Amino acid sequence: MKRARIVGTGMAVPDKILTNADLEKIVDTTDEWIVSRTGIRERRIASEGESLFDFALAAAERALEMAGIAGSEVDLVICATFSSDLVFPTTSARIQAAIGASGAAAFDLSAACTGFIYGLGIADRFLRTDGARTALVLGGELLSRFTDWTDRDTCVLFGDGAGAALLRAEDDAGHGLLDVRMHCDGSLGDLIRLPACDNRKSPSLGELEADRSFIKMRGNETFKIAVRSLAEVSDEVLKDAGIAHEEVNWFIPHQANRRIIDAVGRRLEIRDGHTYVNIDRYGNTSAASVPIALDELNRAGKLAKGDIVLCAAFGGGLVWGAGLLRW
Ligand code: COA
Repeated sequence: MKRARIVGTGMAVPDKILTNADLEKIVDTTDEWIVSRTGIRERRIASEGESLFDFALAAAERALEMAGIAGSEVDLVICATFSSDLVFPTTSARIQAAIGASGAAAFDLSAACTGFIYGLGIADRFLRTDGARTALVLGGELLSRFTDWTDRDTCVLFGDGAGAALLRAEDDAGHGLLDVRMHCDGSLGDLIRLPACDNRKSPSLGELEADRSFIKMRGNETFKIAVRSLAEVSDEVLKDAGIAHEEVNWFIPHQANRRIIDAVGRRLEIRDGHTYVNIDRYGNTSAASVPIALDELNRAGKLAKGDIVLCAAFGGGLVWGAGLLRW
């Protein structure tokens, strides 16, 4: 039996830092409110001329380099994003060409903040059943391009960046992805929305300009659902794998809100110091948050062989999911 193992990780974020003090000058907010309600201190924002492709490619190259694998060996490229530079060619198709993965299948995947987990789930199935040997899974967003900088409810939350994981199908030695679960409740879709262009009608130019599309979120209503869903899906993968909560070496949750992360960690009884948090430095980078965190942990040498790593994410759709691995 084959199992998918992560053999390389990478990340890339813009150099430009936007602090809470910077935001105090743009909207009616305070550093104190943002830190106490979200845990965010600063976020990275792409400059004019930078694109999602730039960051996704840098993350992909770092993952390939870490693994010592050539781009030409990649059989499948998945990029989880809802902020691709172009509708098509997709970001994944452009990455496929740039790394020289000729012949590889490539597609973008839209599952909001849970996109990377969905990507892992799909790559896992490809690698175990399709004969594909190597898959590159990316999560990346330039949320700053879809942020209403006059709306204090949302503009303090988001940041830009990309992360990548390179997966290899290996003979099962118990290491690698143990399980990935994906869920959705489309009936709650109105809680977080990015309409982009509403293609159900032909918009006039005036409408298009007036309705430049921004992320809208009913944050308070989403909060409790996020905590419950993240805890439930994490419970589900642990239980089915027969792994006790206290055996988790690293819990890597989607970084949407420090209070959500802490509440889920408490419910799951994750040991103190075993939950990875970087929301203070990057804010919510949607599909990029889990792979960025994974790469930071990996490069800091904090992942030891055999460690149990639990990743979980939640976002607009509503979609949520969890991936469990033995490193
Ligand atoms: N600065 C200062 N005050 C702000 C503010 C800001 N940036 N944003 C909102 N407020 C105000 C509100 O206007 C409100 O004021 P009022 O009481 O006078 O009406 C008050 O703060 C409380 O607002 P509320 O929305 O209830 O805050 P909250 O504690 O729920 O925090 C979020 C808001 C968005 C941080 C939080 O709800 C959240 O993180 N939700 C979940 C997000 C999530 O998981 N999304 C899915 C993945 S993307």
